[in-house]
Amino acid sequence: MRSLVLTRYGGPDATELRDDIPAPVVGPREVLVRVRAAGLNPVDFKTREGKLKAIRRYPLPVVMGNEIAGVVESAGSSATRFSKGDRVFARLDKDTMGGLAEWAGVHEDHLAKMPDSLTFEEAAAVPLAALTALQALRDELRLQSGERVFISGGAGGVGTFAIQIAKHFGATVATTASPRGEALVRRLGADVVIDYTRQRFEDVLRDYDAAFDLLGGDDLARSFSVVKRGGTVVSIAGVPEPETARRDLGRGDALAALFWAISFGTRRTAARHGIRYRYLFMHPSGTDLEAIAVLIDAKKLEVVIDKVFPFAEAKEALAYLEAGRAKGKVVVSMSSF
Ligand SMILES: NC(=O)c1ccc[n+]([C@@H]2O[C@H](COP(=O)([O-])OP(=O)(O)OC[C@H]3O[C@@H](n4cnc5c(N)ncnc54)[C@H](OP(=O)(O)O)[C@@H]3O)[C@@H](O)[C@H]2O)c1
Repeated sequence: MRSLVLTRYGGPDATELRDDIPAPVVGPREVLVRVRAAGLNPVDFKTREGKLKAIRRYPLPVVMGNEIAGVVESAGSSATRFSKGDRVFARLDKDTMGGLAEWAGVHEDHLAKMPDSLTFEEAAAVPLAALTALQALRDELRLQSGERVFISGGAGGVGTFAIQIAKHFGATVATTASPRGEALVRRLGADVVIDYTRQRFEDVLRDYDAAFDLLGGDDLARSFSVVKRGGTVVSIAGVPEPETARRDLGRGDALAALFWAISFGTRRTAARHGIRYRYLFMHPSGTDLEAIAVLIDAKKLEVVIDKVFPFAEAKEALAYLEAGRAKGKVVVSMSSF
């Protein structure tokens, strides 16, 4: 089958469009999906570069791509939840990837029926970023109606979902965006928008209940100044901490000790401010995707797409995302097959 394959760890040339990869053979609880569109995410180029090798090392060559929308072709012997012809979407299993291809094998617990109101390209833009936003805001920050949350980097893939989900929970939302993204984040519901090219957010925001950091680095360090004592900062782009190893990755003491060491400075800053720090790795979940589909069909969650590329230009699509300026999501369409 046609697929975008990682042949070695490295730069953009480390991937190849190939026609000689066999279609996946599905296991008993898996479903074979004819992929109609695949979403792209920063994890795709971070994986290609080998930045995540300490966590997950793929046997090469491996088919890239972490989220899809498509049509069910067949189901494994013990998979009962989906039937041939169902329109579905999923964040794929992290151990296999495989979304940038004509066919994907997906565990049925990771799949959900895609929202009726969306095209395949729109549906493929949803799973990874929307699940990340939902799991961070609902499960880690436990955001409540009336609370104030700061979401850094609101104009990108995760941010555009996070702003809307936080508003749906009844929170007041502050975010950072450049003039290129300001109109978008305001339309999605952001109450306070700080132009990060002109102003430091910690000069404007005070005593927020929570922060959701999508940027890491200096932005993460500064976010501790805007949250009040007893609050929480959740990052998806900073440094992992011991709970990340144990809870999110199911790993033992060795990785937890490594994450303890690399997060030492961040955790010390958090402790000094009386704030809980947590680094989240999101997880695939068909149940959570069903909840997201309900919000989309109820017009409570808008899918923002920056650009759709044909599959023949999948490498260009990844380079476009890698430039870091996407407003909403970047998607690859398989409709040329
Ligand atoms: N741990 C997890 O499970 C998990 C899950 C999903 C994503 N992530 C990580 O989360 C991060 C965000 O992902 P994403 O998909 O949202 O990325 P993205 O779509 O590539 O984000 C691009 C957006 O970020 C904005 N931006 C860049 N620098 C900024 C700054 N200093 N302040 C405010 N906005 C800024 C850009 O706006 P301008 O062009 O206007 O500057 C652009 O619109 C990535 O590092 C990704 O790997 C982690």
